[in-house]
Amino acid sequence: MPVFAIIPVSLLFLVVYLLVSSSTSNAQHVRRSEFPDNFLFGTAISAYQVEGGYLEDGKGLSNWDVFSHIPGNIKNNENGDIADDSYHLFWEDAEIAHSLGVNAYRFSISWARILPRGRFGEVNPGGIEFYNKVIDNLLLRGIEPFVTIHHFDHPQELGDRFGGWLSPLMQEEFVLLAETCFKSFGDRVKYWTTINEPNMFAEMGYVRGDFAPARCSQPFGNCSAGNSDKEPFIVVHNMLLAHAKAVKLYREQFQPKQGGSIGIVAHTHMYEPLRDVESDHQAVDRVLAFTGGWVFDPVVFGDYPPEMRQYHRSELPWFSAEETEYVKGSIDFIGINHYSTLYAKDCIHSPCVSGGDHFIRGFAYTTGERDGILIGEPTGVQRFYVVPRGMEKIVDHVSKRYKNIPIYVTENGYSPPLAVPNLVHDVNRIEFHKGYLAALARAIRKGADVRGYFIWSLMDNFEWAGGYSSRFGLYHVDRATMERVPKLSAKWFRHFLANRRTMIATRTEASAAVM
Ligand code: BGC
Repeated sequence: MPVFAIIPVSLLFLVVYLLVSSSTSNAQHVRRSEFPDNFLFGTAISAYQVEGGYLEDGKGLSNWDVFSHIPGNIKNNENGDIADDSYHLFWEDAEIAHSLGVNAYRFSISWARILPRGRFGEVNPGGIEFYNKVIDNLLLRGIEPFVTIHHFDHPQELGDRFGGWLSPLMQEEFVLLAETCFKSFGDRVKYWTTINEPNMFAEMGYVRGDFAPARCSQPFGNCSAGNSDKEPFIVVHNMLLAHAKAVKLYREQFQPKQGGSIGIVAHTHMYEPLRDVESDHQAVDRVLAFTGGWVFDPVVFGDYPPEMRQYHRSELPWFSAEETEYVKGSIDFIGINHYSTLYAKDCIHSPCVSGGDHFIRGFAYTTGERDGILIGEPTGVQRFYVVPRGMEKIVDHVSKRYKNIPIYVTENGYSPPLAVPNLVHDVNRIEFHKGYLAALARAIRKGADVRGYFIWSLMDNFEWAGGYSSRFGLYHVDRATMERVPKLSAKWFRHFLANRRTMIATRTEASAAVM
């Protein structure tokens, strides 16, 4: 009699389930020891998304304070007035980060807290004191502060006076902010990034108009003012020049004494050809150039990508000879925020919809779907699918294109589909990070010089136009009490960092999967 004939059916199912789940786990198995000893493992947040305290101790109004108060701009009309109240609970945030075992913590400076009126006013001592406390608290716990100088929020007054990043005047404003940061915190901060995602800031604020200052034109969005074909290029150009001027100052006046390093961060999806045809492969190259390359090519090579210049229209600005001098090579490392992968289809040789036929899209149409099948599991954010292999591919791409420059993965994270009710039993997030970390480890084994990885995010927070509906955190934040409640993924990350295997009940209480 065959053996299975004497095994009860339920047991058979359990055995099959365990075999399947353990093979899935093996496929995604990854250990801390696969990364270099001095690798930075951290979590990431940004000022407006967590701080709150929006008018406290001398802080001025920011563009996001104003934007989020306009009805209809943010889902459920929410705002960051209180956010996660990190302005008052920063020590607790440092403590929970410490309890995870991270050795780095990425956060950003609220510009309106430090220089509420930019160059039109004074430095706010309350703001300096706040970030001194944050930095000292982290260092006390053996955690490196990894500081973003500008992450989407700036004093509203700079927008009102001269149009914010649409004006070259913003460059000097940013340099003053950066100088104030280097002077005040540079004795203790060894990792700086100047600006978070100029490409995403331009895309959301000036192509689609979903973020402050909500400028755009058809067919990309419905705004009262703006020009989606032109303004994004001006904004990014000003940001790159501001970045380069700040780095020049840092290198001349601070770095020799302070000994830190400085970089810039871009939003970097990976792309795969929709069809295995030459034109779609070329579309992939173009989209990569028109997204991450838009930011990284200038700061490494001194000009926008050849792929952008090839199709250059008058919209794409030029760097003068003098500017090229200081823009070129203006980074010690590259920061990539990577979440997902999409398919790209060529729009030069065949017709496209949804703006794919526009210069700003690199004449490529991008989608998460091929023949009715999604590229990966959907998440709570549109066009963010779970595609772990994309991490290996994007790191490979960046590392090759930029001659193996040091790379930090400054953001990578998962927000569950909005319909998923379970707040803390976040098995999908664990699977996400295991898959992406395994792919990152493969890229490192192939030779990429990756030096750090930051999970977005330490805790659920204000997700810009999405309000509090997205939940990227390792910790859930009770919005009534502000209590930080660890999710299963926090436990997993702690064990991962301690290089320990752990048993965590995942899919059902009865089935224990080895992670
Ligand atoms: C931004 C974060 C944002 C995250 C998730 C990144 O592009 O830097 O501020 O919360 O994506 O959408």
